[in-house]
Amino acid sequence: MPASNEKTVKVSVTGASGQIGYAILFRILNGEVFGKHVKIDLQLIDINVDKIQRALHGVALELEDCAFPLLNNLTLHSDPHTGFTDTEYCFLIGAKPRGPGMERKVLLQANGEIFKTQGVALNERASRRVKVVVVGNPANTNAYIAMMSAPDLSKENFSAMMRLDHNRAVNQIASQLDSNVNRLSNICVWGNHSPTMGVDITNGLLDGSNNLKDLLNKEWIAETLQPTVAKRGAEIIDQRGLSSAASAANAAIDHMHDWVNGTTWTTMGVPSQGEYGIPENIISGFPVNCNGERYSIIQNLDIDDVLQKKIEVSIAELKDEQENIKGLL
Ligand code: NAD
Ligand code: LMR
Repeated sequence: MPASNEKTVKVSVTGASGQIGYAILFRILNGEVFGKHVKIDLQLIDINVDKIQRALHGVALELEDCAFPLLNNLTLHSDPHTGFTDTEYCFLIGAKPRGPGMERKVLLQANGEIFKTQGVALNERASRRVKVVVVGNPANTNAYIAMMSAPDLSKENFSAMMRLDHNRAVNQIASQLDSNVNRLSNICVWGNHSPTMGVDITNGLLDGSNNLKDLLNKEWIAETLQPTVAKRGAEIIDQRGLSSAASAANAAIDHMHDWVNGTTWTTMGVPSQGEYGIPENIISGFPVNCNGERYSIIQNLDIDDVLQKKIEVSIAELKDEQENIKGLL
């Protein structure tokens, strides 16, 4: 019998039979987001196509076979309205991935509609405290579509995953300094999850006190760090023939874990309220702190001219994407 004070959370995952779905579900049920003592009601959603629903059932059989102590209840859905009922934590992964030579923004046409339908369903059915992370590309504008389609939820319920870019940047810097990622802090990625995003090490520290600005040279930042992170997704597609999946699942876990449990200085794609001159409602990568309940954008940071220019280019791209989906909203 579960103890009466045992907590249970309701979690929804779309695209649950896809690549990222397969990499994330087992880790969620292993306690990597909510902790080892929080039970999970898991609501899996994928499209109403026989082959896909069969695959989803196959994944469910495997989840059952893990005998996860944290799995309280598992349900399968093809309708987001049932799949989002009372959901408190929502991973919006289901969407078409890009192939070689494509940019993520061309997926808007295929994927935008999905996030409208899901935003409407969240508006009707989700917990008013729901935390939503959009992974499906182009993640920032899809998150914007979902957010704008859910007028009864707070805009703060919605976020886009920029954590993969953040983790990529941290790894590149650690390896350049022949250091460990744990020794680095105060790094972030601004703008869109696209080649225009801007890695920011201005406030970055090694061991909490040594400025990364003094340890990394400007040429390496501009000519290696920035382009490596910007093009990493395409490099993986080129090599693997498929887009990143395990590292994307890992980043989604990091994103939700830190939002739920609290952290200082990470990157989340969240709606602007005008911070740093970024227009309201644009979902941009920002440096944030999380207090265990809410995130807050870190204010009053110095932005040098090079970074300012980068942010402007990335925000212009996001505005352009918004313009292209105007008809959807
Ligand atoms: P995949 O093709 O392996 O799986 C996608 C799954 O989503 C499929 O099972 C599909 O049936 C399902 N799906 C499609 N429409 C749906 C809908 N309306 N409702 C529910 N499910 C639906 O793709 P994947 O590799 O898992 O990638 C998923 C998405 O994540 C892609 O758009 C990809 O580009 C994106 N992605 C984003 C990041 C990021 O950093 N933000 C990283 C990696 C991948
Ligand atoms: C990534 O950055 O790996 C993902 O957004 C997948 C892609 O299309 O690059």
